[in-house]
Amino acid sequence: MSRLLIDGGHRLNGEIAVHGAKNAVLPLLAATLLADGESLLHNVPALSDVDGCLEILQQFGCRIRREGGTVAVSPNGADRPIISDALMRKMRSSIVFLGAMMARFGEAYLSYPGGCELGPRPIDLHLSALRQMGAEIIERRGQLRATLPNGRFRGCTVSLAFPSVGATENVLLAAVTAEGTTTLLNAAREPEIADLAAYLSACGADIRIDGGTVTVRGVPRLTAAEHTVMPDRIEAATYLAAAAVTEGRVTVTDLCPAHIATILPIFSEMGCQLKTSADSVTLEAPPRLKRIPYLRTMPYPGFPTDAAAPLLTAATLAKGTSVFVESIFECRYKYVGELIRMGAHVQTEGRVAVVEGVRSLSGAAVDCTDLRGGAALVVAALAAEGRTAIGKLEHLDRGYAALEDGLSALGARIRRVSES
Ligand code: EPZ
Repeated sequence: MSRLLIDGGHRLNGEIAVHGAKNAVLPLLAATLLADGESLLHNVPALSDVDGCLEILQQFGCRIRREGGTVAVSPNGADRPIISDALMRKMRSSIVFLGAMMARFGEAYLSYPGGCELGPRPIDLHLSALRQMGAEIIERRGQLRATLPNGRFRGCTVSLAFPSVGATENVLLAAVTAEGTTTLLNAAREPEIADLAAYLSACGADIRIDGGTVTVRGVPRLTAAEHTVMPDRIEAATYLAAAAVTEGRVTVTDLCPAHIATILPIFSEMGCQLKTSADSVTLEAPPRLKRIPYLRTMPYPGFPTDAAAPLLTAATLAKGTSVFVESIFECRYKYVGELIRMGAHVQTEGRVAVVEGVRSLSGAAVDCTDLRGGAALVVAALAAEGRTAIGKLEHLDRGYAALEDGLSALGARIRRVSES
């Protein structure tokens, strides 16, 4: 076990590059199962969730190579359509393998992903869509036993009751080698979907995305391709929030500013100066941030739920009261209790958080409650007076590669120490 020790109050200055996006690379790794030959994915971040995906692919019988930020996957010879209970428990987002497993193997056996820190994470939209495409899925005793009686998915029109990112990805992965054409209505529009479609198209898939409608004409087989994982828009927002709370001046590079087009105005509203280039954003923070009158998270292109936690931390130090409404997940505020230990004044009621800004936070011993809540605690510690010790880093390591290295390079006093 290790902890992050952060001595707050140091202004962040300089330049930092974001890594490949966690929420893009997971479905991309699942997609490599569909392409004959060795696919190369570049800009793959060093994350525990990525390690989990690679372990799953190896359990299938895929051949995996990893050199720095490049991962090579060859599914030829893979013949075990099973994800172990342990791996499903470790990474509930493994459900994104379901469509690809069935398309590749004609069957899939995995345990129900269950909930997580953010609340129950139902998969009804995934299962209903795949069943409409010809899957037979038995849910019993916490296990999923999925088969394709005809050996292939059948293209059809599927409409999602909610633009679920994961369900959109599963339908896409099922449709690319299905028999006939699939039209997906009310699909998620997150940039990670377009990144997945770009790789699949490079493998020979026939995909057309028109806003929330995705049309896929099934092809008999896909051939391995190379792809560079898109930049992580949530990591970018986290670094910008760190600059904002430390009166810093930071340039975040290697990102696509368009992906954070609904996040940047919030920083402006808080009094930050922003300068944007084709692949970077520079944020210069004011001596004291202004409040965020009202922020509601929405599916893309709305404000992303994953970026709300770091911004809520910034609001705890702003002048005035801010209101946050979480529209996507049921329990997105578990980390707030840890912020209160640091002196934040936040009241939460269901999906609403009312944040009364204070002049300063104080360092304390806190624990990560989930991935983005952990990021919120790091942002708070960078601004707090005194030392903060952050535990349960396993949550943070799922989605932030070498966070302490990047922040140290910007002038933060941060280091990782082992518990012993
Ligand atoms: C993806 O989760 C991301 N994870 C999440 O990022 C992100 O917050 C979320 O999309 C929303 O943008 C990955 O990509 C690995 P959803 P996903 O299906 O696909 C309900 C992070 O911190 N729903 O769009 O699970 C669900 O309960 C993580 O990086 C159903 O009701 O999100 C939720 O309320 C957290 N039935 C809403 O839809 C279903 O079958 C959004 O879920 C599926 C989802």
